[in-house]
Amino acid sequence: MTTMREAIAAGKKLRIVPYKVGSGSAALLRDYIRQETRKNIYILDKHKALHEPGRIFLNWGCSNLSVNSYRTVGAAPALVALAAEKSGWFRYLVRESPRSVEHLPAFTTLAADAVAMVAAGKTVVARHSTTSHSGIGAQVVSGDGVLYSADDVKDQSWLKAKLFTEYFHKSQEYRVFVLQGRVILTRRKRKTNGAEEQTYSKYIRVHNTGWNYCAVQDDEVPATVRAAALAIDRCTGRSNGVIAYDVGYRERDGKAVVFEANTAPGIVGETVKIIGDSLLDMELPYELDVY
Ligand SMILES: Nc1ncnc2c1ncn2[C@@H]1O[C@H](COP(=O)(O)OP(=O)(O)OP(=O)(O)O)[C@@H](O)[C@H]1O
Ligand SMILES: [Mg+2]
Repeated sequence: MTTMREAIAAGKKLRIVPYKVGSGSAALLRDYIRQETRKNIYILDKHKALHEPGRIFLNWGCSNLSVNSYRTVGAAPALVALAAEKSGWFRYLVRESPRSVEHLPAFTTLAADAVAMVAAGKTVVARHSTTSHSGIGAQVVSGDGVLYSADDVKDQSWLKAKLFTEYFHKSQEYRVFVLQGRVILTRRKRKTNGAEEQTYSKYIRVHNTGWNYCAVQDDEVPATVRAAALAIDRCTGRSNGVIAYDVGYRERDGKAVVFEANTAPGIVGETVKIIGDSLLDMELPYELDVY
């Protein structure tokens, strides 16, 4: 089998196809791979024709890419579509792999069930949008009332949300990057220094609630965190793309729970280099003459 690096050295042209042409992460990845391979690597608009020979297309978050799948690497468009809608993603996982419930928060789409969860003393994350990112449309609710509301849902009733997950009381949260069934990188979410208090949330750990993703030694990452990400990754089949899982970890009992799969994760700095190298060293799924 040939690695991406060998294929590019042999003259195959790589085109990165992001979900939107302006994707900053795709541009950083292009710049890094260009610098590493000393070849012209371009970003390609997903709407442009993708049937030229001698190209390898790297999908970066497109759910509707109509290309010859033999020549496309990256997360499969069907998987991108699945992961992009949180409710369907959770339902798919438990239907196809019933044991995945061990690695997911309990969830329901029924407000009555969510009310029962709160009455039983649980805290619930209500999602008014199941296709958003950055915590948009999220509320956190307990028997004490609404503990957190994203700006866009300030005064809405949490009962109108489309998805409710049981809040997992995490002591840490990680982002675990998986490629071809292996963990290639883990980042730990850390409170941003001087995060403005009005935007900070300890419940919803995303950039705009005062969190950033920082380096962590491999041996500092709890084994259950990696295991949870890999277990969920296996449920969706072998992927030739980088998938970043958000995983909560609870020190008290060592439990880890996967909140989300990101198929076009935001990457900067050292992460770009590690992801770029992993993609270049990835074995391509087909023999070179197929591309
Ligand atoms: N059931 C839950 N229990 C505990 N925390 C949760 C739960 N669901 C979501 N969160 C918190 O909210 C954050 C955002 O949730 P999630 O990753 O599902 O949504 P998102 O809006 O797509 O965010 P992004 O794509 O920016 O990571 C998680 O990283 C986690 O900190
Ligand atoms: Mg997330």
